Order: sequence, then structure tokens, then C-alpha cells
Amino acid sequence: MKIALLGFGSVGQGIARVLAERDLGITITALADSKSGIIDPNGISLESVLARKEQTGSCGKTGITAEEIVRTADYDALVEVTPTNVQDGEPALSHIRTALARGKHAVTSNKGPIAIALPQLRALAQGRGVQLRYEATVCGAIPIFHTLEHGLGGNRFLAIRGVMNGTCNYILSRMAAEGLTYDQALMEARQLGYAEADPTYDVRGIDTAIKLVILANSIWGLGARLPDVDVTGIDRVTPEALSLAEKQDCTVRLIGEAIQEPSLLRVSPRILSKDHPLVVYGTLNAITLETDLAGELTFIGKGAGSRETASAVIGDLIFIRDCYVKGP
Ligand code: HSE
Repeated sequence: MKIALLGFGSVGQGIARVLAERDLGITITALADSKSGIIDPNGISLESVLARKEQTGSCGKTGITAEEIVRTADYDALVEVTPTNVQDGEPALSHIRTALARGKHAVTSNKGPIAIALPQLRALAQGRGVQLRYEATVCGAIPIFHTLEHGLGGNRFLAIRGVMNGTCNYILSRMAAEGLTYDQALMEARQLGYAEADPTYDVRGIDTAIKLVILANSIWGLGARLPDVDVTGIDRVTPEALSLAEKQDCTVRLIGEAIQEPSLLRVSPRILSKDHPLVVYGTLNAITLETDLAGELTFIGKGAGSRETASAVIGDLIFIRDCYVKGP
């Protein structure tokens, strides 16, 4: 399978490294970062492009752009891993639209286009008989969409609750365990590289709300948008509130919650007993699905990181490779 990879930061490089290490039958024929691009129909040498990126900060030649690659390069699936823009989803939204319109599959870790335009993108993909997959957008390495669609296919989903933002979870864990102030804990979280470029998206609960919109629209086809979510972040959680919770063997976690009936989409800090399944520590994510057949299931795993996000993207690619691309 041939892929065009757009975005060569932490996630894009993670994907390239895994593809260089493992023979998965996936070849990168076109690649772009924000400054440059490279096209090679025979397959780009991943070792040399990774080395070039490290030495020069660019992956290829200036003048070859992501737009040109999406429109003209030869590939089976577009992999869109440029940074998230939640205002209008661009330029990733246009990249994905163009690829789908060309009859190419699309895989993305980019939350913006999926939160903003999932119903339209799905319709476009269906019309062209191609796949749009976005496993990496929610809870990083946890294969939540494959589980919802396949492992738990046939279930009805009554509610979803989870810790979906590693930055907030890290801050709350460090404040409670070490007595750090909110600002100290946020600084550490940023150093870990988990926080969004603008960390107010994390701490004000917007990143969790975006993930909740993606989940709810995927499961229930709600057509929900960000303003439909009732959002309270962790930026006003004080060390005093955390130590009060500690005294009752409880702690505080930022929980995203989607309920089907009566319909509810909410993000808020919640006091939970320390033995609650959603009380995970550090940058971990956790997600509980309430289903009618399988009962309640909780998944725990890393919500971000270069190789963890690559795991989700590559899982989507392998699904497409095996179901739609591979010859007899
Ligand atoms: N900023 C996000 C987080 C990254 O902290 O979870 C993964 O979406």
C-alpha cells in the first residue's frame, strides 16, 4: 500500500520510524512538512529522510507542498498528521476532502477536521467507496473506534465516560501527589510534550470536549458541535480542593461524559473515589463504555506520544490495507 504522509513532527516521524523498522507492506511515496516536501513513486528512503529532518529541520525540497501532494501524487491512502486547528480544521480539512474526492482512503490523527466535519467527510468517503479512519484522534493508543465498530459491533452504547486528556490528568496527579501548584504542574506537563501548542485547550477542557464530540458523533451520529458541550476545565481546581478530596480517600479527575438518553455532553472536574476505574495516574487516559450487551468495559492506555499515536495510525492503515487495498 502506498501512502502520502502530511505532517512530519512527532507523530509523522513516529510513523516513519515504525515503517522503517517493520515490514508492514506500507510504502511512503510522498511526504510533506510545513516547509518542504518529497515525492518518490518508488518509495522514499525513510532512514535518509529522518536523518535529513534531524540535520536540517526539513524533510525535502521547498516548493513541493502538501496541497500539491494531495492533488497529484500517487498514493492509496492519505495520512494527515499535521497539527490540530479547532477553529476551522484547516488546512487538514481541505487535504482530507481532496484525497477522498480523488477516491483515496484517509487516515488522520488531526482532531479539528473530524470534530468539525465528520458527517460531511463520511458522506464523501462513502460516495467514493473509500475509508476515513481517525483512531488516533481520541485516547491515543487505545483502539477505541475499532472496539466500538468491530469488537463491540452490535451493541448499543448507552454512555461513555473517560479521562481523555493526558495533560490535565498529569497536572491533577502531580498536584495531589506532590503538592505542586497548578502552574508548576502545567509547566512540567508542557515539558513532557503532551500539551497542545496552546495549553489552554487542555486545561480549559476544550481538548476533552473535542474528543467527546468525535466519539458522540461517531457512535450516535448526533451532528454535535463544540458549543453543544457543557465544559468546565481544571484551571480553577485548587490544591486545597485536592487535599480535601484526599482526606476522604478520593481525588479529582477531568471527566468527559456523553449519555445517549437524555442526551448529555459534559466535561467537568469530578471527585472520584481512588478505587474508581477511571482514576488513572500521570498522562494515562481511561475510557468506560456502557453497553447493552457487553455491560461496562474500561480501557486504559497512553493518550499521546510519538510511537503511541503511530500505533493508532498504523492500526488504521493495516485495516485499510487488509480490507480494501491488498490484492488476492
Ligand atoms: N494534548 C492532548 C493531551 C494530546 O494532553 O491528551 C492528545 O490528544
